[in-house]
Amino acid sequence: MTINFNENPPPSLTDGSYFNSAGAGLMSRSVVSAMVDHLHLESMMGSYEAAAAKSQDLSDLYLAAGQLLGCDPDEIALTGGNTSGWQTAIGAINFSHGDRILVGRSEWGGNYAALLHIAHRVGAVVEVIPCNEFGEVCLEQLRAMLDSRVKLISLTWMPANGGLINPAAEVGALARANDITYVLDAAQAVGQIPVNVRQLGCDVLTAPGRKWLRGPRGTGLMYVRRRFFQQHVPVMIDQYSAPLVGLKYQLREDARRFETSEACVAARVGFGVAIRSALTSDIGSIQRNVFERAERVRNGLLSISHVRLHDLGRVQSGLISFSVIGISPGVVKARLMEAGVNVAVNGIAFTPLDMQARGLIEIVRASPHIHTSDADVDRLIRAVELIAS
Ligand SMILES: Cc1ncc(COP(=O)(O)O)c(C=O)c1O
Repeated sequence: MTINFNENPPPSLTDGSYFNSAGAGLMSRSVVSAMVDHLHLESMMGSYEAAAAKSQDLSDLYLAAGQLLGCDPDEIALTGGNTSGWQTAIGAINFSHGDRILVGRSEWGGNYAALLHIAHRVGAVVEVIPCNEFGEVCLEQLRAMLDSRVKLISLTWMPANGGLINPAAEVGALARANDITYVLDAAQAVGQIPVNVRQLGCDVLTAPGRKWLRGPRGTGLMYVRRRFFQQHVPVMIDQYSAPLVGLKYQLREDARRFETSEACVAARVGFGVAIRSALTSDIGSIQRNVFERAERVRNGLLSISHVRLHDLGRVQSGLISFSVIGISPGVVKARLMEAGVNVAVNGIAFTPLDMQARGLIEIVRASPHIHTSDADVDRLIRAVELIAS
């Protein structure tokens, strides 16, 4: 088979129907080929030499990421995934006894655990912002919760367990008006919907490369507002984030003070290709395509009598959550896999506050992308029909 690595969007490399873009999007052939080429280069000339040969591409990555998020390149730090960036930024905040930390009900479980850990260590409290009837963060109740003790608002924009889209920009406006640090987990948003950090009003925004951007695993990016990086010092530094001048270190004056020196350069090269490809496809058009496919999936699932949809929100994203009455999500996933359909199962640990508030233990999650065809959607729906019958 002759593979056209430049095809965009590329045909799927799998025989099956892939509905796990919210876990890890399928990398395009051009991403894979750029990475493989770089590995070959490393094996021929040495890793540092290969990185030097690609130095322009690597510095362009910050430009492309800035374009993607609507910020300057010096406000971008590259990370190893969502959590690695998020933890580095949160770790730089100086929490103290009595501080209040506000989270949305759909907060990513890893973030919630980390914030509880900080709260236990310093004597702060983590409080959950109540939801409105759509499951979104309730802006009125958030406004009423704000006082001088609120040190941080941490919001997961689009949760891992369904189609909800939180009003991230409205939360940002409240945070800005009250001078409260606002950290936005955009793991499920970047690459799926247009993002503009200035409009969002966040201090920090994090995203992995591997999900909607369809980059490789082990990549990610983080926006750090200029004022945030000027006022916050990472817990740990190295000779990259804080170069030594003589025997004194000098913290970098950009967001890269939150990076360290070592990285998988091949993955970064692939990540750069993935970001540029998303920008070329146009994120607005990606959003329309993904949402339209998600709607087809939802409509198909709704027509099956033993299926329940669990998505919250008014406008719903490309993450579809459902269950089949009487059959465990794990079994549904396994049976769909036999039918050539990949989906994911999400348990309580990923979105503990929301799952427990709604009495959910596990859900099946389907997440299409622009490469998802009508035939893929039909295959998923037919397979769920069979399972449900
Ligand atoms: C909303 C959200 N936040 C954070 C994460 C964790 O991302 P990572 O595994 O890149 O650290 C995920 C992963 O699925 C997620 O969906």
